[in-house]
Amino acid sequence: MKIFEMEKRIRMVILLIGFITMGFGIGDGETECDLYSGKWELDSSYPMYNSSECPFIRKEFDCIKYGRPDRLYLHFRWQPLHCDLPRFDGEDLLERFRGKKIMFIGDSISLNQWQSLICLLHAALPNSTIVQQSNDTTRTIQFKEYGTSVMLFLSHYLVDIEEEKGIGRVLKLDSIKSGDIWKQMDVLIFNTWLWWYRKGSGQPWDYIQVGNERVKDMDRMEAFRHGLQTWANWVDSQVDTNKTKVFFQGISPSHYNGNEWNEPGVRNCFKETTPINGSTYPGGLPAASWTLEKVLSEVTKPIHVLNITTLSQLRKDAHPSSYNGFKGMDCTHWCIAGLPDTWNQLLYATLISSNTVHIYTN
Ligand SMILES: *[C@@H]1O[C@H](CO)[C@@H](O)[C@H](O)[C@H]1NC(C)=O
Ligand SMILES: *[C@@H]1O[C@H](CO)[C@@H](O)[C@H](O)[C@H]1NC(C)=O
Ligand SMILES: *[C@@H]1O[C@H](CO)[C@@H](O)[C@H](O)[C@H]1NC(C)=O
Ligand SMILES: *[C@@H]1O[C@H](CO)[C@@H](O)[C@H](O)[C@H]1NC(C)=O
Ligand SMILES: *[C@@H]1O[C@H](CO)[C@@H](O)[C@H](O)[C@H]1NC(C)=O
Ligand SMILES: *[C@@H]1O[C@H](CO)[C@@H](O)[C@H](O)[C@H]1NC(C)=O
Repeated sequence: MKIFEMEKRIRMVILLIGFITMGFGIGDGETECDLYSGKWELDSSYPMYNSSECPFIRKEFDCIKYGRPDRLYLHFRWQPLHCDLPRFDGEDLLERFRGKKIMFIGDSISLNQWQSLICLLHAALPNSTIVQQSNDTTRTIQFKEYGTSVMLFLSHYLVDIEEEKGIGRVLKLDSIKSGDIWKQMDVLIFNTWLWWYRKGSGQPWDYIQVGNERVKDMDRMEAFRHGLQTWANWVDSQVDTNKTKVFFQGISPSHYNGNEWNEPGVRNCFKETTPINGSTYPGGLPAASWTLEKVLSEVTKPIHVLNITTLSQLRKDAHPSSYNGFKGMDCTHWCIAGLPDTWNQLLYATLISSNTVHIYTN
């Protein structure tokens, strides 16, 4: 009997150690697996679904439907250096988040990831009833049998743009009015970057307001930093992270400059059909990553950085290029099926790794 007990205990301890060592970034310097350092490996069991059978893909991302001829890009699996990424299990995710709300908040990169997650879940449970709803700000897809909602809140800057009489559209770097909706959710995945350098007719505001000052323009990286800081303060002061798990997505890279991947002269991703070999991107991290990293490292509440920048930089082959429904050259967004499925696999891995979300470690 006693030996039995002891064995049980030893087993539990081993299990615990196993759990800790495979842990996803458990805080204090224990051996930890960095899910975000790794490489792309060919794996014929990927992609995780057939995009022709996902009825939710927008024309911007539906590469195969719009004639993409090569298929190799679908067959890569992200392999972290020191552990394996669990396979995405849609049924398990819906079961764990029964009755809960998962919301993506940000620009069209958030839309990209939201659609991928819906396709992944739909592929896992093709017969689940889907209820769609939208209003001005929020698009919701609910998997009815589970009551799980997967939502999208489009916000280019996270901070507000407001129309002011006699002045115009003002980008308010200190203001987040939508936070009251966001904080009711159970999982939040934020992202913002694409729009911060827009100028001319693509710029959706006329003035920037910082504190009490209104200016016509300012250093855009500084504006980005200020907006992120407002977001960070909002998380620290407003979000109950015991209830709501908070993710911030790293910068999603684009591929318009072949110098970055040692193909000087190349100006887009049109001919790219394979990922970059290995774990490092010759061009290094985009400048915005450093700003992001700095601000996020000062958040005191537990948040998790979905640090997809490097692994996505390696995927110069994963953009729609001209295989989309508007016939522009797009080396910014990503094909679905494709890379965003891996982002969601990382999201899933982190969500199931324990009940608390870890954790930005400096
Ligand atoms: C994907 O689904 C479509 C439509 O059902 C089918 O024609 C096609 O063969 C499938 N592709 C693969 C790779 O299974
Ligand atoms: C979905 O429903 C169809 C038709 O009722 C059935 O043939 C199929 O096996 C079901 N698929 C799953 C995964 O339950
Ligand atoms: C839009 O829908 C969301 C989610 O259902 C809800 O929280 C929000 O209040 C709605 N907004 C408006 C303006 O109705
Ligand atoms: C969250 O949980 C921790 C540990 O149980 C507790 O100390 C803390 O006060 C809780 N925070 C809030 C905002 O409820
Ligand atoms: C990638 O790198 C590995 C190790 O350096 C090498 O064995 C392999 O041949 C390379 N693959 C390609 C496609 O260059
Ligand atoms: C993201 O990963 C890259 C490469 O592994 C690393 O250099 C960077 O510091 C990480 N950023 C964050 C915010 O963790």
